[in-house]
Formats: sequence, C-alpha cells, structure tokens
Amino acid sequence: MGVADSIRMEDLSYSIGGRRILENFDFTLERGVNRTILGVSGAGKTTILKLLLGLLQPDAGRVCIGDVCITGVPEAHFMELRKRIAIVFQGGALFDSMTVGENVGYRLFEEGRLSQVEIERIVREKLSFVGVEAALDLYPAELSGGMKKRVAIARALAADPDYIFFDEPTTGLDPIGVYNICNLIQRLQAEGKTTLMVTHDLATAFSVSQRFTFLHQSRMIFEGTEEDMRLSELPEVQQFLQPTDASLFV
Ligand SMILES: Nc1ncnc2c1ncn2[C@@H]1O[C@H](COP(=O)(O)OP(=O)(O)OP(=O)(O)O)[C@@H](O)[C@H]1O
Ligand SMILES: [Mg+2]
Repeated sequence: MGVADSIRMEDLSYSIGGRRILENFDFTLERGVNRTILGVSGAGKTTILKLLLGLLQPDAGRVCIGDVCITGVPEAHFMELRKRIAIVFQGGALFDSMTVGENVGYRLFEEGRLSQVEIERIVREKLSFVGVEAALDLYPAELSGGMKKRVAIARALAADPDYIFFDEPTTGLDPIGVYNICNLIQRLQAEGKTTLMVTHDLATAFSVSQRFTFLHQSRMIFEGTEEDMRLSELPEVQQFLQPTDASLFV
C-alpha cells in the first residue's frame, strides 16, 4: 500500500452525551505540512485525533486516509493504512505492567512478523533516538514525566509511521523537558515524518508547526500560519494569544 498523501475530515459532525463537539468540520493534514490544532481545554482536540484514526465514528461526514474512506468501513479494511499513522497519547498511555522495552516493542511482538532479535534491535534504536536507552528494563512507574513522554514517542516510532499525532506532548513538563520534546519532534520532521499536534501550549505549537487550525465551539474558526494568526482580527484568536477576557470561552 502506498503512502497516503493526506488525511482528511469532510463535513464531519460528532456529538457525545448530547453535546455537539464538532459541527460540519473540514480538516486536511497534507503529507509534509506539520500542523497544530489549537483550542481551549475540552474543545475537542483529543476527539479529533481519535476520529482521524477511526477510533471513534462520526455522526455525519467522513474521514479519508489518502483515497480510502474509513468511515463506516470495518477496521480490517483499513488496518494496513492505519499502521502508517502513530499516536502519542496525552499522558503517554504506557502499559504499567510492562518494561519500557516491552512497551516500545509491543506492537511489533503482536504483529509477529519480525524475529525477537530484530524487534530488540528496533527497540534499542528507537529508545536511543529519544535518549532514554538506559531505561530499557525499567517500569513506567520508575520514570519521570518527561521520560514517560519520550518512551511513548519511541513506542509510536517502532512501526516506522509516516504520520505521527501528538496529543499535548509537552503539557506538565519543565522548560528543559519542553525543549527536548520540541527538539525531538523537529528531528522527526527532518526525517520526513509528518506531524499533527493538538495542544493549548502556544510556544510548543509555534516551535514545531507551519500551519495552525483553531477550534472554537465545535467549529474551525481559523486556519493559517503563525503570522496569519498574529494578524487575525478574530477576537477568539486574539484572546488565545493574549488572554484578557475569559467570557469569550465560557
Ligand atoms: N467519553 C466521554 N463521555 C462524555 N463526554 C466526553 C467523553 N469524552 C470526551 N467528552 C467531552 O467532550 C469534550 C471534548 O473532549 P476532548 O477530550 O476532545 O477535549 P480536549 O480539547 O482534548 O481537552 P484537553 O485540552 O483538556 O485535553 C469535553 O467537553 C469532554 O468533556
Ligand atoms: Mg485532550
């Protein structure tokens, strides 16, 4: 299966618990263009990533990976294509009962295509890339927050994806931890990975993305570059850049 040139949401609506999270939402992630979706807490950023991966089903509209529409289609039909996309979940979502090495190699072991020796080589290579190879035999509970995030990134890299989604990758880290994660994301981009990040942290967003989508009250109200954003006259965008009036976000 070839590399998909884009991942798209077309006219998509999604509600949960009677609340509309997305309404007639159009979004395109082109291969090679690193994007960030910005929005306040609870706006629906994590939901968008889950919809793009087919982990949630929309009420209306559809998600397409390249020229394959994955909405309403059995998972087995798009599994190969979905493997081209990895996600680093908010909080890392590591398996507590497995070592770091087992976490990173988990998907490859499950697939059963590679030998144990080959998987161990990949695990070491990915841990070395993120700078935590010394943690190979430790358990997640023994790691700092920043190390957990790096291990989660190493796990996402194990299957050599084309696209990597990052859900709040720097939230809760100290400034050095933030710098290290941004640096890692930039190195992945330099290697040809396309990244999509969702965050409410502007500094992180600006350091690793060329284009920005702003989510506000179920809709995409802005799309453009950092400069476009700074020049935007939309009050919601300006409030996000320089908060002065909380009432806009109630
Ligand atoms: N399983 C669920 N049941 C009910 N409501 C949910 C569920 N999952 C999410 N929501 C609601 O959907 C909205 C969007 O959630 P989502 O996690 O996508 O927000 P977010 O933008 O990622 O927030 P944050 O920045 O805090 O991570 C929130 O208001 C949340 O309360
Ligand atoms: Mg979230």
